[in-house]
Amino acid sequence: MNMKKITKAVFPVAGFGSRFLPATKASPKEMMPIVDKPLIQYAVEEAVAAGITDMIFITGRNKRSIEDHFDKAYEVEAELSAKGKLDLLRTVQEVVPKHVNCIYIRQHEALGLGHAVLCAQPIVQNEPFAVILADDLIDAEISVTQQMVAVYEHYQSSILGVQDVPRAQTNQYGIVSSKQLEANIEEVNDIIEKPKPADAPSTLAVVGRYILTPRIFHYLEQIRAGAGGEIQLTDGIAALMKEERLLAYRFSGTRYDCGSKLGYLKATVAFGLMHPDLRDDFSAYLKAL
Ligand code: G1P
Repeated sequence: MNMKKITKAVFPVAGFGSRFLPATKASPKEMMPIVDKPLIQYAVEEAVAAGITDMIFITGRNKRSIEDHFDKAYEVEAELSAKGKLDLLRTVQEVVPKHVNCIYIRQHEALGLGHAVLCAQPIVQNEPFAVILADDLIDAEISVTQQMVAVYEHYQSSILGVQDVPRAQTNQYGIVSSKQLEANIEEVNDIIEKPKPADAPSTLAVVGRYILTPRIFHYLEQIRAGAGGEIQLTDGIAALMKEERLLAYRFSGTRYDCGSKLGYLKATVAFGLMHPDLRDDFSAYLKAL
């Protein structure tokens, strides 16, 4: 196989965010902030750190603010510039670096994560690519996508970002069965979407990070609705695995499940305690509680 560099990341952002209603009634869940940055910006920054230059957002209704967020904001910029608030101006202008392209594709029907990824095919075409789910916020010294790109450059096969979860939670994740290849790398021999704890082949769960070869599109076109009546990315990956080697990578970093209220609160506390302007006062406040 010809070694192709990973330059594209797919961000499925068409979901309803029903777990955060009413907050998500009129605005996308991906725009919910952790301290002062929306979740989707953390995800994009992770991709930028991995050298990715094309950000492909799979959007749907009510997601316009994501496009606006990554676009120039003339009024805000003019105002900040007139008032001499140059630090803030830079913050607004540097939401994405200039060399990065943001591409938007509408997913007309919410048919599932596998279907969302398939919507990226016309842009991704015949290249390996990353998939990043903004709900899974990962605090890491080296961007997790960058870690996975490095693994890809070595093995040139599809890779899933994984971590162990409590057995009681296997029904919230894609779960893999695998055998160890290296310290943090497993070779996957099975993957199941959201098995009941008693049926789960292991407790090794896929979190929202993937590097996929373009062959995945072939399978995503063919599979039918699976768990929850949705076209599941997991089912496409299970089919791909029969043809190509599939790896699971135990990334280094702390992952926050910002798709749940508790995970979102934990992330807010953790990022608040890391924020240069806030950490001292916030930590004093928490200690006093
Ligand atoms: C999706 C995937 C699942 C994966 C999870 C990670 O599920 O279908 O395999 O483990 O993301 O967050 P969702 O959380 O969208 O239900």
